[in-house]
Amino acid sequence: MKNKITSLEGLEEIKEKGLKKLLPDIPRISVGLATCGIAAGGKEIYEELKKQIEEKNLSIFLTKTGCFGICNEEPLINVRLPGKPIVIFSKLKKEDVPKILDYALTGKLPEDNKNVLCKIEEWDHITTETPILYGRDYKNIPPWNEIPFFKPQKKLVMRNAGITNPEDIEEYIATGGYKALFKALKEMSPDEIIEEVKKSGLRGRGGAGFPTGLKWEFAKKEKSDVKYVICNADEGDPGAYMNRNEMESDPHMIIEGMIIGAYAIGASEGYIYIRAEYPLAIERLERAIEQAREYGILGKNILGTNFSFDIYIARGAGAFVCGEETALIASMEGNAGRPRVRPPFPAQKGLWGKPTNINNVETWCNISPIILRGGDWFSRIGAEKNTGTKVFSLVGKVKRTGLVEVPLGTPIREIVYTAGGGAATGKKVKAVQTGGPSGGCIPENLFNLPVDYDHLASAGSIMGSGGMVVMDEDTCMVDTAKYFLEFAVDESCGKCTPGREGTYQMRNMLKKITEGKGTEEDLNKLEKLAKFVKLTALCGLGQTAPNPVITTIRYFKDEYVAHIEDKRCPAKVCKALINYYIDPDLCRGCTICARNCPVEAIDGRPGYVHIIDQEKCIKCGTCMEVCTFNAVIKLSGEKIETPFKPIPVHREGR
Ligand SMILES: Cc1cc2nc3c(=O)[nH]c(=O)nc-3n(C[C@H](O)[C@H](O)[C@H](O)COP(=O)(O)O)c2cc1C
Repeated sequence: MKNKITSLEGLEEIKEKGLKKLLPDIPRISVGLATCGIAAGGKEIYEELKKQIEEKNLSIFLTKTGCFGICNEEPLINVRLPGKPIVIFSKLKKEDVPKILDYALTGKLPEDNKNVLCKIEEWDHITTETPILYGRDYKNIPPWNEIPFFKPQKKLVMRNAGITNPEDIEEYIATGGYKALFKALKEMSPDEIIEEVKKSGLRGRGGAGFPTGLKWEFAKKEKSDVKYVICNADEGDPGAYMNRNEMESDPHMIIEGMIIGAYAIGASEGYIYIRAEYPLAIERLERAIEQAREYGILGKNILGTNFSFDIYIARGAGAFVCGEETALIASMEGNAGRPRVRPPFPAQKGLWGKPTNINNVETWCNISPIILRGGDWFSRIGAEKNTGTKVFSLVGKVKRTGLVEVPLGTPIREIVYTAGGGAATGKKVKAVQTGGPSGGCIPENLFNLPVDYDHLASAGSIMGSGGMVVMDEDTCMVDTAKYFLEFAVDESCGKCTPGREGTYQMRNMLKKITEGKGTEEDLNKLEKLAKFVKLTALCGLGQTAPNPVITTIRYFKDEYVAHIEDKRCPAKVCKALINYYIDPDLCRGCTICARNCPVEAIDGRPGYVHIIDQEKCIKCGTCMEVCTFNAVIKLSGEKIETPFKPIPVHREGR
């Protein structure tokens, strides 16, 4: 009971406590411990730091933080000395711990500077009245927003990620957290809140982009003894992990948004539907919920008002279709996770038949800044009818991978080239897939396209929840379409014929084409079927599953034609259409390819040009990987002359 906050003064008191942790008068070291940081070895570094600090009895405040977004630089560690900027160190190993401790204790930066990524002098946490000044110094270290990855970014949803400790409510409050809730509950009526959200122009970040304020209004209008709010944290798109990071790095911002939404529509219970494959996010959310209850932010009479509301976690088993709102509700009710026809919409008849408002994780994250700084302020960020920012998970064949938060309307080019640094392979970027299996492939020549709901839709794709997969010249677009259709077939719930049979038949046609057995008629049928399934499927899964097919045919038809007419895969990906050969002029007869071939398809006599038996070859590419003389060549649609019988290798002066 002692911690319950009931007044603004009470909130300010906790804020002061939290600020003492963010700006302590001893060195503060925070280790990036979201899933990406842990996967890169952050936990081992944290444990080593802890051990050495304890053993040497050092006066250092060691803590955890979430992900700052630049995942390819993990493990990341922030070190702040009193009065100095936060210095972000990257790509650290356990062996670097003495170096970090030395900096924390002496203030001398490591001489090689090789792990110093950037600095943060001040930070606009968005929900604080003014940015927090961490300190000014170090002319030689680039400010965080001057390094290319962050240049096009604006951190609104990721306002605390990678800086504060996600396991500490006091640090959240230090950054202005729960002040919006205070304002909403004590100074605003539900209608005023809905008006503000409408004014902001916020559209749902779960993919469809439906105006959030309008949706809340529908749910509020329903008369019912019980109403629910749900946070959709299913996030099943391959390559997407924005929501996971939002929950792991700043769980309280989701809780705060949900309480405000619940108050606005008149809900008394909330659920976070989250896939069980996100154990860390679940752990942090559970802890945050517990803390919120302890501080009187969840439960009965929130912040001393008459409003009571609580949040519970509902674990999903990880089916993509359960991200669809009606399937999600079915799954929560203990039924098979299958969508149903709408109307009635969840706002009218949702969980257990009661009015229910479902929003995506990231939608909830935007609520407290909107309430605190106003809908007008929010509406000035981003583009017309596409306000605010969006977090994208930039993955695939791109140099810098991670979470990129940009104002809506930012051109794709800036995300892929400025933030991402172009292709990691040094090859040309060919396309980007947005919106996961429901989205489409946008070719490089359209990269000036602004990323927002409407422009992406006009190009045949969707924004989806924010997955962005970069593809280079070595990606076969027919194979890519097949991959996404395979996903749709696996994930289809089987309820409607277009979703079940349509996706299956499209997948089969794509398979046939990638095997070099496709005909022009197949291509025509594929196009027709794709359009038909889009129009007739019951839910969004089926309606959007044809998008990868439609966009690849629209932008990369030449690749389909090459597979069908020339029996050639231009990107040399489709196994049935490629062959590996050994160049007699380059082979040194070293036997390494023959020794590594899993099916003994290589005649590899020492000193003789090795020969691949095309009948036996399974085209796994191992020979090419292991050959140190670049003698193995991959071809599609062409052949080279190789000796019939092994001949001695070509040597200088032979
Ligand atoms: C197959 C399928 C999967 C979906 N997966 C998700 C998901 O993982 N997360 C999500 O928020 N919305 C997902 N949606 C969209 C939801 O149905 C719903 O529109 C969304 O949760 C509404 O929240 P918003 O208005 O905040 O975007 C999915 C839709 C379909 C058709």
